[in-house]
Amino acid sequence: MEKQSLVTKPLKTSRRTSRKVAHFLLAFVLLTCVLLSFDTFQESWNQSWWRKSSKKNVIFFVTDGMGPASLSLTRSFRQFSQNLSRDDILVLDQHLIGSSRTMSSSSLITDSAAGATAFSCALKSYNGAIGVDPEKQPCGTLLEAAKLRGYHTGLVVTTRITDATPAAFSSHVDYRFQEDLIAQHQLGDYPLGRMVDLMIGGGRTHFYASEDAVYGTRGSRADGRNLIKEAIDDGWSYVGNRQEFDALENGYNVSLPLLALMADYDIPFDVDRDETEYPSLEEQAMTAVNALTQATKDSDQGFFLLIEGSRIDHAGHQNDPAAQVREVLAFDKAFEAVLKYASESEVETVLISTSDHETGGLVTAKQVSKAYPEYVWYPQVLSATHHSGEYLSKLLLRFSGEDKVDFVEKTIFEKLMGIFDYTKEDTDELLNLTSIGELNDKLNGMISTRAQIGWTTHGHSAVDVNIYAYANRQKTWYRLLDNLQGNRENTDVGQFMADYLELDLQKVTQMIKKTKHSPNINTASLYHVDIDDYHNGMYDEQAL
Ligand SMILES: *[C@@H]1O[C@H](CO)[C@@H](O)[C@H](O)[C@H]1NC(C)=O
Ligand SMILES: *[C@@H]1O[C@H](CO)[C@@H](O)[C@H](O)[C@H]1NC(C)=O
Ligand SMILES: *[C@@H]1O[C@H](CO)[C@@H](O)[C@H](O)[C@H]1NC(C)=O
Ligand SMILES: [Zn+2]
Repeated sequence: MEKQSLVTKPLKTSRRTSRKVAHFLLAFVLLTCVLLSFDTFQESWNQSWWRKSSKKNVIFFVTDGMGPASLSLTRSFRQFSQNLSRDDILVLDQHLIGSSRTMSSSSLITDSAAGATAFSCALKSYNGAIGVDPEKQPCGTLLEAAKLRGYHTGLVVTTRITDATPAAFSSHVDYRFQEDLIAQHQLGDYPLGRMVDLMIGGGRTHFYASEDAVYGTRGSRADGRNLIKEAIDDGWSYVGNRQEFDALENGYNVSLPLLALMADYDIPFDVDRDETEYPSLEEQAMTAVNALTQATKDSDQGFFLLIEGSRIDHAGHQNDPAAQVREVLAFDKAFEAVLKYASESEVETVLISTSDHETGGLVTAKQVSKAYPEYVWYPQVLSATHHSGEYLSKLLLRFSGEDKVDFVEKTIFEKLMGIFDYTKEDTDELLNLTSIGELNDKLNGMISTRAQIGWTTHGHSAVDVNIYAYANRQKTWYRLLDNLQGNRENTDVGQFMADYLELDLQKVTQMIKKTKHSPNINTASLYHVDIDDYHNGMYDEQAL
């Protein structure tokens, strides 16, 4: 047998040697194949294990007002309406790791402001607090600390960008209703300067005044300033309609910073959304993800992005199950798209999704008779309905034709709601009602009762909410489970992200002490007004 290795022995042209060479090469090729396929076989999180880079992306999802019952409701609705098997679950369902307790420092039932501050500052504060602690002192947020460490940052929502959840990451005010001031902070008008690189959502109204109708028709800033014009002069790209949004080319034609304000108030519920006018949450989310990916391509730091399914909460406040299931599905699609992105990304990426609280006290059951309750609920009632109660109420209020009875019965009940077993009393009641809130209650009540869906409140509840997570690296996945598996406090979610990104929130807190955060009114009187009556755009009366 040959003792010398092929390396030390010069190759001869003898048949035996070339056979050995061939065998060696074959073995080498096979070994390489085995190694490569082993590597491919490994989950994508191991593919780039040899890279030393500590570059990270964190994408934090908030499903505002989505409790566990919303998931049961949506899953069954989807299975019914698409004729899917009972094994067919939501994408989100496949990533459930735990649940979160949601109380604020002031109440067992939190509002979205305290809920979001628990995530952004990793501390408990009072209902209404936006990025401030219980003593009303500004607290450094994840977004600010990430930006100061060289990360890019973004906010994507379907409600006003100045609403509680995005605001708690990007501003500091004593009360959530200070939305004019929130808009200023978000554009960089506070001690840290501009911390947000990208904002996509609604809420244009707080960026310009009513008499200044250049960018919209329903501006409401009290100080008369036009922050949109100021932002553009400051170098922001501005997008204010679908056509301009489409020119962003899914995020591949974005010049940061980007301010995309797609509506004066909320982006319509997904069930009502005209896609020629408004992008979906998925489109908004992927535009943001792609833009931030492009922007951080050559950087050692990745990005922090907040994506909120904001209006699940509004459907809950309005007790509208038909709108809610479509909101949850739209969110699930956005989550699925971002999940696909993360699973293919070379950059270590973490997705966490949770809710600030549950809204509506939703139950997938309702006793509708005095007899022993039936064990049923009917998803077909929700799929027969083609609009939200909010949309239908506005149609009714705007109606100026001759035959309103016919409009209520043939158009609203039969055509748009798929309800044929209505009574004369139903029609009369709708003809009599004049406020959008009462109309909405009546219409949504007709749906909920027929579907046998129950609601216990027009507000929030204290029920625990779910935590979902994904990481494209195995060790990060274990770290996620170590910290967020099981039942946690909402602040643990914020603390995990701060620790994971190695952020020093206290240091940021020291830097923002001089932030203007108090309202220009006598705050003593605030304890007597209902500061939780914050969904001032809940029924969007101005849009009538
Ligand atoms: C629903 O799916 C079942 C099983 O896949 C099939 O047999 C049935 O025809 C489908 N029904 C409709 C209305 O598509
Ligand atoms: C890219 O954006 C610029 C404005 O920033 C716009 O003029 C251009 O039309 C966009 N390109 C495409 C292909 O939409
Ligand atoms: C509607 O208003 C009329 C006149 O005010 C009243 O007679 C009737 O009882 C009302 N109907 C309902 C269902 O409230
Ligand atoms: Zn709410």
